[in-house]
Amino acid sequence: MLLAACSCSCCRQRNALTILHTTRLLLEPIAEQHLDGLYAMDQIPEVMRYISGKPATREQTAAWIAGVQRCWAAWSTSWWAFIEPASGRIAGAGCIQYARREAALPADLESLRHNPLEIGWRLHPDFWRRGLASEAARRMTAFAFDSLAAPELIASCHPNNAASIRVMDRLGMQFRGIEIWYGEASPTYMVSRENWRQS
Ligand SMILES: CC(C)(COP(=O)(O)OP(=O)(O)OC[C@H]1O[C@@H](n2cnc3c(N)ncnc32)[C@H](O)[C@@H]1OP(=O)(O)O)[C@@H](O)C(=O)NCCC(=O)NCCS
Repeated sequence: MLLAACSCSCCRQRNALTILHTTRLLLEPIAEQHLDGLYAMDQIPEVMRYISGKPATREQTAAWIAGVQRCWAAWSTSWWAFIEPASGRIAGAGCIQYARREAALPADLESLRHNPLEIGWRLHPDFWRRGLASEAARRMTAFAFDSLAAPELIASCHPNNAASIRVMDRLGMQFRGIEIWYGEASPTYMVSRENWRQS
């Protein structure tokens, strides 16, 4: 089993469920207690516009959380809920996880380990345009390179998703082509560990 040893002194690890901190956010491995906050975000059409194309139902959010928990158990990395500490509100969610070509999560999660790690994010609109996605993305990227020793990190998105592409730019990611991920041909961006460290 992969062991995620976070080197950051302000972060701690419990049973390979790694909690991360940024200046303004607490990143908690997603679990059942995050259902209300995640559903409040994922039911908003603007949030899901470039992800699934339609708002999620509460049942879909619950099923997604169950899949995320399977990934944490298998890989010691997956999706975090971004919590605003002062209010306790869920501001968003983000991931470091093994990318997959197919839309559905396979039964055998080990089969995805030969794929690159990807980074992803989404925020509730109440938290947009404050630099929070970039802040959380930087912390998750450091986790991928420093704790998981990933050689590279990829991200893919809808070509019209200017906000997400801008977050990738800010991370130093560069366009590497149109690739099939999650069953769709998508612009795919990449940053290597070496380039991340140099930047
Ligand atoms: C993508 C998303 C997470 C960005 O979150 P955010 O916290 O607003 O992003 P940041 O504040 O860190 O902004 C990063 C950059 O993007 C720019 N940006 C933010 N929203 C933008 C928009 N709608 N259009 C164009 N640029 C935008 C910011 O101005 C900033 O650029 P700058 O560095 O030149 O100032 C957020 O828009 C979102 O949740 N979208 C819906 C879900 C989604 O599409 N997720 C990605 C799936 S691939």
